[in-house]
Amino acid sequence: MAAIVTLFCTLLIFSVSSLVNSLSLNYYDKTCPQAESAVTNAVQEATMNDNTVPAALLRMHFHDCFIRFTLVSCILKRCDASVLLDSVGNNTAEKDGPPNISLHAFYVIDNAKTAIEALCPGVVSCADILALAARDAVVLSGGPTWNVPKGRKDGRISLASETRQLPAPIFNISQLQQSFSQRGLSMEDLVALSGGHTLGFSHCSSFESRIHDFNTSQDIDPSMHPSFAASLRSVCPVHNTVKNAGATMDPSATTFDNTYYKLVLQRKTLFSSDQALLSTRMAKGLVSKFASSQEAFTKAFTKSMIKMSSLTGGQEVRLNCRVVN
Ligand code: HEM
Ligand SMILES: *[C@@H]1O[C@H](CO)[C@@H](O)[C@H](O)[C@H]1NC(C)=O
Ligand SMILES: *[C@@H]1O[C@H](CO)[C@@H](O)[C@H](O)[C@H]1NC(C)=O
Ligand SMILES: *[C@@H]1O[C@H](CO)[C@@H](O)[C@H](O)[C@H]1NC(C)=O
Ligand SMILES: *[C@@H]1O[C@H](CO)[C@@H](O)[C@H](O)[C@H]1NC(C)=O
Repeated sequence: MAAIVTLFCTLLIFSVSSLVNSLSLNYYDKTCPQAESAVTNAVQEATMNDNTVPAALLRMHFHDCFIRFTLVSCILKRCDASVLLDSVGNNTAEKDGPPNISLHAFYVIDNAKTAIEALCPGVVSCADILALAARDAVVLSGGPTWNVPKGRKDGRISLASETRQLPAPIFNISQLQQSFSQRGLSMEDLVALSGGHTLGFSHCSSFESRIHDFNTSQDIDPSMHPSFAASLRSVCPVHNTVKNAGATMDPSATTFDNTYYKLVLQRKTLFSSDQALLSTRMAKGLVSKFASSQEAFTKAFTKSMIKMSSLTGGQEVRLNCRVVN
């Protein structure tokens, strides 16, 4: 039954995808030609003051595109800026849901939106601003650039309970593959987009199950390199008292490069979901390819980012990214 629903929804996604030709590269050419540079300025300015901003924006966009996806009713409202809405009254929004721990830098989107509203009021959606900001974040970190298709609309619903739809860091390869394929994303997309973990930081709570009490016979996940596990145990002890303790994803955590894949091969990545990319021949082949060719990685990453971010289902252009109109 679940398989039939998945198949039905997948077919629907692909037929909807073809309708989403409403997204276009020149969507704002007539109505707001300065939109892209306003976003770039906001991201640049914020990054100058805080070098954790690019990672935050990339992850925010990923969350926006992965949440608000319900299989049963095939509700497909992916990149719809739901992640930007604040909680109101009884409604707890996505950003206040459990895996929000590293989401921050919402003010950057607010700054971009304010600048754009002053230029062309009511025209540019928050979902498009976030997609552009994620691209700019990658560029500012030394990664590739690409043209972002635009024309997304903003949604009106954001539910903390739906953050459960995100893949978890303890997922194995079949769970990851299922999570991605439900959204029309392939194994190649999974491996390429996981390269987003070349940027940023993780809290101890996201990987502590691998370094303490892994299972009844092993204290440490044997798939993790022992010296790497030892270094993580020193920053994340069992009784950790340091607030916000954690580790960078990659020693070059502000540089967008293919180091992540080299670390996967060396078994020095934080999450089981990273290490899981070695557990099928196909995924492992892609990891090796991206580890040995920065160009192959950036080409695949660009293609998969466009794919991940191109489906939308919102209905309005919000005037303030934090509240529905
Ligand atoms: C494949 C499934 C994925 C899982 C299980 C996953 C899981 C996680 C977790 C647990 C964190 C750390 C949160 C914390 O403790 O602070 C994190 C951070 C991050 N993720 Fe992922 N992620 C996945 C895919 C992606 C994708 C597709 C992207 C973007 C293309 C991405 C970009 C990031 C970035 C940039 C950070 C660092 C955020 C920061 O420093 O503020 N992740 N991810
Ligand atoms: C919140 O929920 C309570 C009871 O569940 C209800 O009385 C109240 O009207 C709700 N408030 C809003 C703003 O929906
Ligand atoms: C994350 O969620 C908690 C409650 O679960 C909330 O107190 C906190 O403000 C949220 N963080 C962000 C950045 O929204
Ligand atoms: C992945 O985890 C699920 C749920 O725990 C399990 O049913 C499945 O067999 C696992 N797959 C692999 C390849 O380990
Ligand atoms: C603990 O994990 C290791 C590696 O995954 C596995 O080989 C072993 O069988 C597990 N032991 C138990 C008791 O589950």
